[in-house]
Amino acid sequence: MSDQINAQFRPRIFSGIQPSGGLTLGNYLGALKRFAALQGDKAETIYCIVDLHAITVWQDPEVLRARIREAAAAFMAAGVDPAQSILFNQSQVSAHAEMAWLFNTVARVGWMYRMTQFKDKAGKNTENVSLGLLAYPALMAADILTYQATAVPVGEDQKQHLELTRDIAAKFNHDYGVEHFPITEPLIEGVATRVMSLRDGSKKMSKSDPSDASRINLTDDADTIAQKIRKARTDAEPLPGQMDALKDRPEAKNLVNIYAALTDETPDQVLARFEGQGFGAFKPALAEVAVEALSPITRRMAEFMADPAQIDAILADGSARADAVATPILERTKDIMGLLRTRA
Ligand code: TYM
Repeated sequence: MSDQINAQFRPRIFSGIQPSGGLTLGNYLGALKRFAALQGDKAETIYCIVDLHAITVWQDPEVLRARIREAAAAFMAAGVDPAQSILFNQSQVSAHAEMAWLFNTVARVGWMYRMTQFKDKAGKNTENVSLGLLAYPALMAADILTYQATAVPVGEDQKQHLELTRDIAAKFNHDYGVEHFPITEPLIEGVATRVMSLRDGSKKMSKSDPSDASRINLTDDADTIAQKIRKARTDAEPLPGQMDALKDRPEAKNLVNIYAALTDETPDQVLARFEGQGFGAFKPALAEVAVEALSPITRRMAEFMADPAQIDAILADGSARADAVATPILERTKDIMGLLRTRA
């Protein structure tokens, strides 16, 4: 059924990243690197720095402003080209917030309480977190559906939010008897859909982890990267020849996956070269490929950051282009819902 509906929409890719902390190797491999690769293909690409999502937990205003620019620099340093893609920050296109309100009336409260990200972030504090943190997935659905996006590249942790986006689209279409929204496809592909913490192979690498040693930041210099990899938790066993044998060794599996994602190989190809060797040999090799892949990005990020006015101009241009796509779809959504249009 979703194929039938989706065939009516032009192929359009949308994705977003929160500027709630410095970006990590997880964001790069799970998202940014793939955003760049999807450009110029069959679909239009729209990428967003989701600042309205970031404020669902309190952010220092000055720090937030800097992080929005830093995220823009990271997108471009990773290869997102503002001439080929639309790159902008969410708060500048008011259709996102308006569409989110419309979806607040479609989505059910129970759907929101079931979200694992909400449960993780709220913990035992569910009554005291912001209402925005609970409603967050309706805004995410609005981001995607305000562009009638047909596909969304994300890491594994966003899968549940994308299922909810599909539920909102389907319920809207059903409730109003229309085929207005596509049933968006998640693109969760490759070996780096869930990069794990360097300190704990059962936790995902995250910009909000209190331990800086748990992650590689896109702003880390070569020495810091090498040191974090050297100190990464591992086990004492040598590496096997195939990935199947790593299923009960999460830390080892994570490092091999990171290596493969950085060099665009399969994990088995990597293991074929390192079979029988221990981490004393593997970690320096991984540090080398990580530094080789990340240093040009860190350098380009610093170059972009040296000219904040240029970043702002690029985001302003992206916002105007995003607005031109989003506003007619928002207006049509309001018409469908019976919201009387009294201004031309
Ligand atoms: P965020 O900001 O937490 O993460 C941005 C992207 O990076 C991916 N990612 C990872 N991938 C692999 N391994 C990891 N350790 C890792 N950590 C993060 C995420 O899966 C994501 O693709 N709710 C979203 C932001 C958002 C959004 C959207 C995404 C808002 N609206 C619309 C897509 C479409 C979030 O918090 O991502």
